[in-house]
Amino acid sequence: MFEDLKVWMNGKMVPWNEANVHVLSHGFSRGSAIFEVFGIHPGPSGPVAFRMDRHLERLFRSAELLGMEMAYDEKQLTQAVVQSVAANRISRGLIKLMAFYGEQAVISLIPNSKLDVAVCGIPAFEDLGLDQAAPIDICFSTYRKLHPATAPVEAKACANYLSGMLARKDAKNRGFDVGILLTLEGFVAEGSVESIFLVKDGVLKTPKPGNILRSVTRLSILEAAPAAGIKVCEEQITPEQLMDADEVFVCHTGAKMIPVKRIENRVLGEVPGPVTKTLRRLMDDICNSRDNRFTSWLQPVG
Ligand SMILES: Cc1ncc(COP(=O)(O)O)c(C=O)c1O
Repeated sequence: MFEDLKVWMNGKMVPWNEANVHVLSHGFSRGSAIFEVFGIHPGPSGPVAFRMDRHLERLFRSAELLGMEMAYDEKQLTQAVVQSVAANRISRGLIKLMAFYGEQAVISLIPNSKLDVAVCGIPAFEDLGLDQAAPIDICFSTYRKLHPATAPVEAKACANYLSGMLARKDAKNRGFDVGILLTLEGFVAEGSVESIFLVKDGVLKTPKPGNILRSVTRLSILEAAPAAGIKVCEEQITPEQLMDADEVFVCHTGAKMIPVKRIENRVLGEVPGPVTKTLRRLMDDICNSRDNRFTSWLQPVG
């Protein structure tokens, strides 16, 4: 199904099957690639990207944290997104943007080049799970979140996802959908590809930055919630606090918000709970251009 798609690669649109790198490229063989994923939604006069400015800002921040130099600036990348959306006729879907050293790394560890870029525009299809709202079961992973002293965990770097893969496998093997990684100090961090929120006594809480990816969805929920009269708080969260929460949900670009119905052996009551429901409606309205307080979050890309 992807064969008909086109990928923007270093300034050219190429067929999906030709968007390749060498097996010994640094990005592949050393795992040094960085990336971004963001949503495309139908807007009032064409497709719009959800907070593309924030995603591109995070991409440049990832490069900076890892001492990498981008070969394209934000304006050029925005144009690449516009071209990818048009070439693949996307009204709802995702952009997956990879920045990587295409340079071969037969022995070298430190590359000399700037980052190549590929922008993949992917129209929505069922397995992408966009806007998936079915409640899930989560557990505490036996794997811990990478410690920020080992590598910058705020960089959205492919190499950081090995532990995410292990955590997800471990959760699936134990009959759960998502494993929540704790920090080495034992506080709640996040899932493999999702941030986590809890609601206690009407207050929305999420782990503070430091050990987690600065998720754009997480930030958006924190910024939007007060508009719905919901108090927010970023703090260190213990596993016990999560177990004792009134409501829990995870979030990421694809699904936006997914309510949790079970944490380990504790089954939550009403799912989704009232705060989760309110926030989901709010986020849905924002993404679908129905809330004019947040129109600046949607950048036209077509
Ligand atoms: C580790 C991790 N945390 C959180 C998220 C959610 O981030 P965003 O809202 O920017 O998609 C992701 C997304 O892939 C992730 O990989």
